[in-house]
Amino acid sequence: MNVTINGKVCEAKQGQTILEVSIANGIYIPTLCHMKGLPPIGACRICLVEVEGAPNLMAACAAPVTEGMNVYTNTKRVLETRKFVVEMLVSCLSLIHISEPTRPY
Ligand code: FES
Repeated sequence: MNVTINGKVCEAKQGQTILEVSIANGIYIPTLCHMKGLPPIGACRICLVEVEGAPNLMAACAAPVTEGMNVYTNTKRVLETRKFVVEMLVSCLSLIHISEPTRPY
């Protein structure tokens, strides 16, 4: 099947994810929780992409491709959402750090 990513027509196989097709075609999508060879958990949301016709952004590591899918990895909406996701992840780390009990050394 054919999938278009950022205007580039890419060949894809049934069952591949957007991330797998992107990697195979040299298109970078950032990831954090994705581990090659393990089932996707779609937890971090760093890999969000925009799919034409879809109301919400999709996690590229978990979303399977479909025939004729039109994907954008670097729109303003995608980049702003990824930035927000990173800010939320960092703020969670900060809270964990703050809530750790002080250790006497
Ligand atoms: S890499 Fe974490 S949700 Fe896709």
